[in-house]
Amino acid sequence: MRVFISRNIPEEGITYLKKEGLEVIVNTENKLLTKAELIAACQNADLLLNVGHADLDADFISACQHLKGIALASVGYDHISLPEATKHGIAVSNTPDVLSGATADTAFLLMLAVSRKAFYRAQQVKDGEWRDFEFMKDLGIELNGKTLGIFGMGRIGIEMAKKAKGAYNMNIIYHNRSRNEAAEKAVSAQYVNFDDLLTQSDVISAHSFLSPETTHIFNADAFKRMKKSAIFINTARGKIHQEAELTRALEDGEIWGAGLDVTDPEPMLPTNPLLKMPNVCVLPHIGSATIETRTQMALLAASNLVAVRNDVAMPQILNP
Ligand code: DGY
Repeated sequence: MRVFISRNIPEEGITYLKKEGLEVIVNTENKLLTKAELIAACQNADLLLNVGHADLDADFISACQHLKGIALASVGYDHISLPEATKHGIAVSNTPDVLSGATADTAFLLMLAVSRKAFYRAQQVKDGEWRDFEFMKDLGIELNGKTLGIFGMGRIGIEMAKKAKGAYNMNIIYHNRSRNEAAEKAVSAQYVNFDDLLTQSDVISAHSFLSPETTHIFNADAFKRMKKSAIFINTARGKIHQEAELTRALEDGEIWGAGLDVTDPEPMLPTNPLLKMPNVCVLPHIGSATIETRTQMALLAASNLVAVRNDVAMPQILNP
């Protein structure tokens, strides 16, 4: 069987596939393929290892219905039409667990960076604006003992909660579709309704999947209900917050700051007003971008394709 890999991955993943006897074709060009290019490339393949967030919608699936399996090198799967894949008997997998620690690190990094206006202060150094020791300039806020509200207490949310509890003894509250008893035990997290999450949190960190229910759930109304001193962090999907309304809430001082690893659209334009704000830190969707994690993701995605070749169920199958 032949695998098409839509963008370069760590060598370990490619070596593993070849060792298993699969033929591998990799898009080594440093660019995201258009839908038409991806469809064309998949015509000569039996399996797809998809890197990135190209829209694998119903049209794409229908044009590639000969595929036997698609392994997504991501935990999120909002960019693929699972019903269409299921209709054509294409098994689809993702890469949960292996990226939870690295993604939670990114959320933690943003929380701390926003609380100390770190990106803005670093820019001042680069711009030659570090004049002297200004006692009252651009002061930050501390996190010790504050309340962290996790929106979406799954694998990544619990890792973030553990870090915040360990580092700053933060009080953890969370809102989810259903209660997470493991989190309640591990970090003494308390389940609250969405309104209480908004009104009680000093920091809200979003870790949920993107769905019709979570799309734009952090909107003007939500930001109005949050504390004026609150920080909003999003490392999940850019559409979970409404970007124009977040911008307005920050401009009007309805919340204190924001840290985003995901934006809407991606990439964010360099002219975006959020990038000029002292209390905002933006990263280019690097949640899982470490050598260790990306290697694990590549290996996990590859092992799911090997399972298809072996005619056994993908271990991380999304459409059993
Ligand atoms: C994920 O794993 O879903 C990240 O957003 C990277 O794709």
